[in-house]
Amino acid sequence: MNQAIFIMGVSGSGKSTLGKSLAKELTFPFFDGDDFHPEINVAKMSSGKALDDDDRQGWLETLNELAKKQLKTNSCVIVCSALKQKYRDILSQNISGETKWVHLSGTFEQIYERITNRSDHFMPSELLKSQFDILEKPKRAIQIDICLRPEQIIKKIKNELMITSEFGLFGLGVMGKSLCRNLANNGFKISMFNRHVDDFEVDIAKNFKAQYPELSEAKAFDDISRFVNSLQQPRRIMLMVNAGKTIDYVIEDLLPHLSKNDIIIDGGNSNYKKTKERYDYLKTKGIHFIGSGVSGGEEGALKGPSIMPSGDKDAYDNAASFLETISAKDKNGLPCCTYVGPEGSGQFIKMVHNGIEYVEMQLLAEVSTILEALGQYPDDIANTLETWQDSANSYLIEITTAIFRKKEGNDWLVKKILDKAGNKGTGNWTTIASAELGVPSTLISSALFSRYISFYKDERLQLNKSFETINNSELDIEIDEVLKAYQFARIINHYQGFKLIAEASNKFEWNLNLSEIARIWTNGCIIRSTLMEELVEVFKNTTNILTNQQLIDVVSQYRPAAKKVVSQCVLNDITVPALGEAIQFLNGITTKYASANVIQAQRDYFGAHTYQRLDDNSGKSYHSNWE
Ligand code: 6PG
Repeated sequence: MNQAIFIMGVSGSGKSTLGKSLAKELTFPFFDGDDFHPEINVAKMSSGKALDDDDRQGWLETLNELAKKQLKTNSCVIVCSALKQKYRDILSQNISGETKWVHLSGTFEQIYERITNRSDHFMPSELLKSQFDILEKPKRAIQIDICLRPEQIIKKIKNELMITSEFGLFGLGVMGKSLCRNLANNGFKISMFNRHVDDFEVDIAKNFKAQYPELSEAKAFDDISRFVNSLQQPRRIMLMVNAGKTIDYVIEDLLPHLSKNDIIIDGGNSNYKKTKERYDYLKTKGIHFIGSGVSGGEEGALKGPSIMPSGDKDAYDNAASFLETISAKDKNGLPCCTYVGPEGSGQFIKMVHNGIEYVEMQLLAEVSTILEALGQYPDDIANTLETWQDSANSYLIEITTAIFRKKEGNDWLVKKILDKAGNKGTGNWTTIASAELGVPSTLISSALFSRYISFYKDERLQLNKSFETINNSELDIEIDEVLKAYQFARIINHYQGFKLIAEASNKFEWNLNLSEIARIWTNGCIIRSTLMEELVEVFKNTTNILTNQQLIDVVSQYRPAAKKVVSQCVLNDITVPALGEAIQFLNGITTKYASANVIQAQRDYFGAHTYQRLDDNSGKSYHSNWE
């Protein structure tokens, strides 16, 4: 990765001399910031007046533009006093991940002595003193003691810049390995760590490195201290370990080796509340924590996943160029990775992503069951799903099509799979979060509970004997109606998923951008689809997709088919919980006067919980004696 190396420090610290030698040594172009002052600044300085922050603004922006332009083709060395943090913020705007700071520091006495020894330079001691007064020491910089010899200084900077790795990957499971290869394929210098466990996990990183030519420059470790020390500061360490307690153990193992302002990125499916706790904990230690959803499975991680990072924006900016480069790209070439928001918001939206994923999977399972009941064999189902890709394309429909084609011997593989669906917990969390936030994510819970029902295989077999089921040869459904029901339910699914995100955003004051979230889900992730692409536009004008006229029309147009399909399935004992919930939900959310009046009356009857009246808008509570 190209780098803009800014050499900073007070006047007399030797910035220009060192900058020139460093640039020469590294064969990077050299720029002296002072050469870029506008004439008006030069005139002011020549008249002996000091520049104020307003004078500096445009000049710093010019240097930022210069750095950005250079970074497109190569690295560069730029010398600039940059004494205040806000100056450095301007200099590194939009390139903070590619910016390196070298701070030449010494005491007032050392530097004043240097200045007075220079024949061509005079500076009153008050002026130098005022520079020391305004100097805000950079937190993220290679600190250089000016007492070192020039060659020692160059060696130290070179070591930090060139030899150490830019990014660390901790945990070489399937996803971790793919991300390492992705980073290396994109030219990043990486360090990779996997623990050593006698007889079980031995030389994992070393063997992995040997396996892939793109990792020839990568460094492999099974020793935490050596791994951490191989990374440039502030360190960026991405954890790809099992979500849950393991993350906390890993954090504790890492902490003694880390320095202030290092950044830990959790790329696993962690619980968003845990992410907030970890974020708060690490803040007390001066360490930044980015909770980041990563979607796309093994292949996505290798070729470009969708990445959903959250936490400190500053810390994100520092890691952004890595994450955005390795992410998938949307149809306009923009990264499917964006700063989502504060705290655990990235993990929250990844959790909801998985909830939507559960439903999309369940719907495809249900429609294929209906197609089978209509007499289609797996090959036919694949053909049907393939034709649907014209109007309802998604990654999940593509893989489901392929699944129904796959044969093992003379039989279809899918028919040999035990009908018990597993889960790793994110659908469970989405359902819990919905309940906690009071959001009716009925499709997500129904998809989750369908997996749970499937798990009761023995009981299903037993009860199957006790209850008669209808022979569904009477099924009166057209294939096109199944497609419409499927599309109908998908819109309700996306409505519910984004509703949950919108409500969480309000409750936690995350200020999430739904259109951006939909955009980073248009590629790389499991729920990418043409519908998601439409939603990017829809969310530019609303946070509720069922207020969009086009979608209202589509839902209204498909609703009769959805009703017919679901009712036919109910009459013929075909289980379609997610399709059914979609119908029920739309009924509920569009009902003018719901049956909740009865519930309120019952609550008041047995528990004096009170109720409000339609003929009194004041919000007053009433209690009646119902007997
Ligand atoms: C993704 C997937 C990924 C993983 C889930 C599956 O976006 O890449 O969602 O995170 O496949 O953990 O979850 P279940 O095991 O719960 O189905």
